[in-house]
Amino acid sequence: MADKPVVITDQNTQKSLELPVIAGTEGEPTLDIKQLPSELGYFTYDPGFASTAACTSEITFIDGGKGILRYRGYPIEQLAEHSTFLEVACLLLNGDLPDEAELKAFEHDITYHTMVNERLNNFISGFHYDAHPMAMMAGVVGSLAAFYHDKLDMNDPEHRMLAAKRMIAKMPTIAAACYRYHMGWPTAYPNNSLDFCSRFLNMMFSVPAEPYEVSPVAAKALDLLFILHADHEQNASTSTVRLVGSTGANPYACVAAGISALWGPAHGGANEAVLNMLDEIGDVSRVPEFIARAKDRDDPFRLMGFGHRVYKNYDPRASIIRKACHEVLEDLGKTDPLLDLAMELERIALEDEYFVEKKLYPNVDFYSGIIYKAMGFPVSMFTVMFAIARTVGWVAQWLEQCENPTKIGRPRQVYSGPAERDYVPLEKR
Ligand code: CMC
Repeated sequence: MADKPVVITDQNTQKSLELPVIAGTEGEPTLDIKQLPSELGYFTYDPGFASTAACTSEITFIDGGKGILRYRGYPIEQLAEHSTFLEVACLLLNGDLPDEAELKAFEHDITYHTMVNERLNNFISGFHYDAHPMAMMAGVVGSLAAFYHDKLDMNDPEHRMLAAKRMIAKMPTIAAACYRYHMGWPTAYPNNSLDFCSRFLNMMFSVPAEPYEVSPVAAKALDLLFILHADHEQNASTSTVRLVGSTGANPYACVAAGISALWGPAHGGANEAVLNMLDEIGDVSRVPEFIARAKDRDDPFRLMGFGHRVYKNYDPRASIIRKACHEVLEDLGKTDPLLDLAMELERIALEDEYFVEKKLYPNVDFYSGIIYKAMGFPVSMFTVMFAIARTVGWVAQWLEQCENPTKIGRPRQVYSGPAERDYVPLEKR
């Protein structure tokens, strides 16, 4: 592991500077460039932050080359097989797997913060009936600050943890309320005798006129998907949460900003885009046509659910979801021609020189929508599902940031506009 400082020399001035190397527990060594502007007079240029670490974090580790993902050191495969979403949430927030009593207490806390203030429904009913649920989520979650902010002392760790738990607990309630508003169904209140995922399914799909029984298969599959989506280090939405958090904004505002960042099709919005793409392709015979479009530089079309900034190998979450897809569809007694289509698309892409050379593999969003669809979720809710799970990561990262406050996030720029010029009066332009 490289640990000696790296010396850089400015060939213009012959001035040298030692850049210390920050070595994490694992991962690439990172140069500390903080002294660069003051010592050599340079800033660094890194659009999209492709080479820049914005923080240190103890929460999640990814090795993109090897396709490794770990939460607090635990491999995602082990958590997916043995853990539950709330146990993973407890792990991400607190740093260690809970013992039985700790887990019970955590589950209790999440369960008893599931209700939302009744007046929050006024915000929901202000939306047009066909508003996208992600737009509703961003607005409604942001409005939580108006309900719970006055009691929040951001300097008090207990208050911060309470806000984090509230957010995890209330997200499914709000998500289901948004969906039901769109459907024209009455609000369903959380049934706290159910576990986290069963409660959410019940709030989503139960109607007053008929009995509804939560499918244990669906609840288990949802729990797995939530585990896999819970955190992913400094992705765009998490970085947004941290950036907003660095200003001292309240956590509800931070998470609302995270929801907005997640919505984009290059990020969490890809799960919705994948299903729309598969629908558009429609038939295996049209796969080559779409592969050709994805490779065409003049065509903006991209294979949705493919490629990743960090993974240059199979996304380990996609491997787990791909396998689960078959099992869940079988257990739910469903078939979906889109699964065959997705597998054929993957097969052809993985053999194609373009995708091989650029190391483009299926990511977490490629197969998840097929499971959500089998459970009855409409496509527009797919990214909301991602947001419910990722809330855990957002609040864990926000808590970590509050414990080790950094400077306000404030990137620089290379100014490329006009040099100084004098104002020209209107009549002379
Ligand atoms: N289809 C076709 N070509 C692609 C794709 C794709 N899905 N992804 C990347 N490329 C090409 C891209 O055109 C570029 O080619 P060139 O070097 O010739 O210009 C090269 O691969 C590198 O791509 P990039 O856009 O520079 O890479 P990035 O790290 O900035 O972007 C990404 C990563 C995920 C935004 C991108 O792969 C993408 O748009 N994928 C489709 C959307 C998607 O599935 N997003 C979900 C990401 S995982 C879950 C999450 O973050 O929420």
